[in-house]
Amino acid sequence: MNILKSLLFSILSISLLKSTSSYILYEQYNYMGICPGEPPVNPQCEMGENYFGAILYQESQCVTYNLTSVIFTTKQDTIFETIYDDSSCKGNIFNIVEHTSGSCESSCVLGYGNTFKLSILENYEVPSDTYLSVTYSGECNGDFDKDFLQIDYQYVDKCTNIGFGIYSNSQSVSCNKTTTTVSTFSKPGCTGGIYHESHYENQDNCKFDGGSLNYIDICNI
Ligand SMILES: *[C@@H]1O[C@H](CO)[C@@H](O)[C@H](O)[C@H]1NC(C)=O
Ligand SMILES: *[C@@H]1O[C@H](CO)[C@@H](O)[C@H](O)[C@H]1NC(C)=O
Repeated sequence: MNILKSLLFSILSISLLKSTSSYILYEQYNYMGICPGEPPVNPQCEMGENYFGAILYQESQCVTYNLTSVIFTTKQDTIFETIYDDSSCKGNIFNIVEHTSGSCESSCVLGYGNTFKLSILENYEVPSDTYLSVTYSGECNGDFDKDFLQIDYQYVDKCTNIGFGIYSNSQSVSCNKTTTTVSTFSKPGCTGGIYHESHYENQDNCKFDGGSLNYIDICNI
């Protein structure tokens, strides 16, 4: 009995340990259907010119996902997205949405389509040639490795198609230490010439929420 109890306890503590060390990767792809309308039957989540970028989330933390405050938890290959009605995830639970790790999903919301994939990762690695926007806690020194809540990243100098049919164009992002530039092309595949270019100053904000969170943009090239 005692052996069984301690066995159960060690299994429990292993799973507790595991649940605090997982990451959730959200990957976004250009939506290939008309919105509003039926979401595509077989949405495509493939790397290439429809790949938008990704957000890496820490599991079991209050993070911003899909414009709401969410805590992700996992069980085997199921991801539970618990949506709260307040920004600190201390209020009421608004909804719990389940996702299967690695499956390609799509939806149509208020005329905007979205194709995406959520995956459970045991280890994380931020790819190079990326532009990062990081929210982290702890000391505000840009060292986010242990304390990040979410890392939003986009590949730089890579073409991403936007929109569908006659409304499609494309974008590419470039950056240096101080500035990030988003160039919009009039046609897919970054052709047809640049018709719009936006410059953003890279931010480094300590305790931006008036509490414990820091934010930094990093040109990771
Ligand atoms: C965002 O939320 C809406 C419901 O408000 C849902 O239909 C949609 O699938 C969600 N998108 C993602 C990427 O989870
Ligand atoms: C960074 O890029 C911006 C926009 O292209 C440019 O104006 C600026 O001179 C660049 N800075 C450095 C240090 O290269």
